[in-house]
Formats: sequence, C-alpha cells, structure tokens
Amino acid sequence: MSSYLEAATAMGTGSLHPGGFMHTLKVLQLFSLTPEDIVIDIGCGAGRTACHIAKSSGAYVFGLDNSQEMLDKAKFRAAREGLQVQFVHGDAGDLPFLDNVADLILIESVLIFLPKVRVIDECLRVLKKGGMLVSTELLADQSMPAAAKEQVQSTCGLTGIPSFEEWLDMFQSAGFTRTGAWRNSFPGPLQNLINILHPDPYQVVSQSARTNREINQVLRSYQRLMQKNRKYLGYGTFIMKK
Ligand SMILES: C[S@@+](CC[C@H](N)C(=O)[O-])C[C@H]1O[C@@H](n2cnc3c(N)ncnc32)[C@H](O)[C@@H]1O
Repeated sequence: MSSYLEAATAMGTGSLHPGGFMHTLKVLQLFSLTPEDIVIDIGCGAGRTACHIAKSSGAYVFGLDNSQEMLDKAKFRAAREGLQVQFVHGDAGDLPFLDNVADLILIESVLIFLPKVRVIDECLRVLKKGGMLVSTELLADQSMPAAAKEQVQSTCGLTGIPSFEEWLDMFQSAGFTRTGAWRNSFPGPLQNLINILHPDPYQVVSQSARTNREINQVLRSYQRLMQKNRKYLGYGTFIMKK
C-alpha cells in the first residue's frame, strides 16, 4: 500500500475520492435503487457510500476492500447507523462474487491505484447484463508534463493517470457501453468547502493518525502536490452499462 493510502486509511475519511460525498450524492440521483437491487462498492474504504445507499434505498449492499483497517471503520459506521451492509475483505482484481449478480457497481478512486483493465474486467464479469458501473477517477490532461505526472504517480502510488479519453477507451474496450461520462475540474476551494459543510459524522481517526506526525506530513505533501498540478488534473465520472 502506498504511504498516501496508509495515511488516508489512518484518517478514515469517509469520502476519499475527488468530488467527495457531494459528487456521490449527485451521481446516485441518476438511479432509482430498490430493496431488490444488489449493489457493490468496490474499494469501499470507510463505507460512507455503501452505508448511504443501504439507508436511502434499502438495496442489498456489499462493500469490498482489501484493508481490514478500512473495513473495521466501515463496520463501525454501519453499526452506528443500524444498517445491514455486508463488508467483505477481498481484492478488486479477483472479486469474490459470482458472475452476473450485481445491478450496480460503484468504484470511487480505486482503479487509479490498481491494474485498471483487470479490475474493469472483474466489474464486467460480476454485473448482470444491463447492470451499471459508476466510476469516479482522477485524470490528467494530455498536456501534463511527464515529470509532473511521474511525481504525482510515485507520491500517491498510482498505476498511471489516464486522460478522460483513455479512461473511456478502457471501459469501452472491456465491453461497457457509455451511458454518461464527463470530465470534472479538480476540486478547488469552493468544492472543498461544500464538502466540509457536510462533515462525516462517523469518521474514525486511528490512534496512529493522532500520534504519528509522518502521517500528517504525507497528507500535507499530497495536498500541496495536487494543488500545484491542479491545472492538469481533473476527475472523470463514468456511467457505463454492461
Ligand atoms: C482512495 S480510497 C477510496 C475509498 C472509497 N472508495 C471512498 O471513496 O471513500 C481507495 C480504497 O481502495 C482500497 N484498495 C486498494 N487496493 C485494493 C484492492 N486491491 N482491492 C480492494 N480494495 C483496494 C483501499 O484500501 C482504499 O480503501
């Protein structure tokens, strides 16, 4: 795990993806989920999205992550909210689910850390025919200098930062059909403020984050690096149909 992901895990931030929880709410408005639906949040982190979906729709929700620390935080959240969400320890590249079972898969800022095509193929396998994939991921414009891109990738432990077109091509080459896809600007102060105004009531900060100065340093240098490069960066919202 990258030192950035370790630090972010220790902080237990509930919506650890560009656009934050507000973006998740906006995207979910596009779906009318019911208790009959099976939803999987891959790389669910501290479980804010998974719990929100369970609470707002009654859908049968799985949250999968390969970090036990994250899953413990997600389970704490579900318990506090009185929700039945199945949190599963597993690898996004080898999903422990049968073929053709899910109505909706969410994957928010996870592909960017992983072998992307492998995980996209797994999503396709697990979705029902007609099922939907919602992916929110960092992207870089083609104009981003190679050295700056390399620095962001190595600092954050990313497996490459595709452009909007490259992301789209990856989903479509795997066999998905585009339903909606758009590029968002990298979150600036206003968007960050909007998310701050909707704080996560169930964020669990690990003891290590309270006592380990290195964790705060890692997160600060991540923020600085992202802001320095924000004119090249953005994030994509990809709504894809199997
Ligand atoms: C940036 S966080 C995003 C968390 C969550 N989706 C959110 O938006 O709050 C990335 C998450 O992916 C998880 N992750 C990383 N590699 C994984 C893998 N191979 N399989 C499953 N989860 C993984 C991390 O533990 C972390 O929780």
